[in-house]
Amino acid sequence: MVAGRAGWRIGAGSTRGRALATLRQAFAEAGLDTPALDSRLLGAAALGIEGSAFLTAPDLLLTGPEAERLEAFARRRIAREPVARILGAAEFWGLLLRLSPETLIPRPDTETVVSAALARIPDRLRPRRVLDLGTGSGCLLVALLHEIPGAFGIGIDRAEGAGRTARSNAEANGTLARAAFALSDWAAAIGGSFDLIVSNPPYIASREVAGLDPEVARHDPAAALDGGPDGLAALRHVLADAALLLAPGGLALVEIGFDQAEGGTALSRAAGLAVEAVERDLGGRPRVLVLRR
Ligand SMILES: C[S@@+](CC[C@H](N)C(=O)[O-])C[C@H]1O[C@@H](n2cnc3c(N)ncnc32)[C@H](O)[C@@H]1O
Repeated sequence: MVAGRAGWRIGAGSTRGRALATLRQAFAEAGLDTPALDSRLLGAAALGIEGSAFLTAPDLLLTGPEAERLEAFARRRIAREPVARILGAAEFWGLLLRLSPETLIPRPDTETVVSAALARIPDRLRPRRVLDLGTGSGCLLVALLHEIPGAFGIGIDRAEGAGRTARSNAEANGTLARAAFALSDWAAAIGGSFDLIVSNPPYIASREVAGLDPEVARHDPAAALDGGPDGLAALRHVLADAALLLAPGGLALVEIGFDQAEGGTALSRAAGLAVEAVERDLGGRPRVLVLRR
């Protein structure tokens, strides 16, 4: 029998249904936003079962090792480690991506970059050169290569561990033959010209990083969050690189913070790029600058 910090217990011999209910309540009492979802995801991973098995076989008893794994996962979640970090993987654009300490957890809002790009690419078989600036887990490049069979691309990041993780995600998702990864300070190490440039640069103002939710402030890498004093420092680099490396008529899609549409638009024009649109995320907030050279 193991006891959680606030007195809750999960023991060998507890049923799956009871263990799940205990976790849900412990997570709710700890103030987590989505206790039911988190307990189901962590429960399924700890027991090596589908989440639905909690409903179809709630009376099965936990073994000692299962109870211990579940307790360890729960303790980490209550300490505000995100579920994706505990599981070591996240889903993006329907693809499973591995994470490492140097990669941001890909966010659903970032899928707006992919959908905005695909909406503007009618012929997906035509060869296209794609550049992903600040690739992290590789989520943008891997999703785009997955969707655009004619594309090949380069993902760059300044964090060595991110490049390694992105590479393994490209391999796991069948796109490595059309992908390359490089260590670079933005596009300093990159030459040539590209038909499509995507980026989700860090865009939180430095003074705001420490005040983010603990899941983000403590567990996402600072290099993936901190956008300098006004949150726009990385965007300026990305726009300068895009202006230099985009082929004539080429398209750049850059994620911004929900309150950066005005600043981002002005900086894009100043960099010599035409602003075709500002796409909104699923919550209706401005999220992606759509730029043409
Ligand atoms: C907000 S994260 C985005 C990661 C991934 N593209 C995504 O959407 O989840 C920004 C990424 O930019 C990288 N980065 C920060 N500064 C950089 C720089 N000077 N040169 C290259 N990459 C940088 C970080 O390491 C991080 O992986």
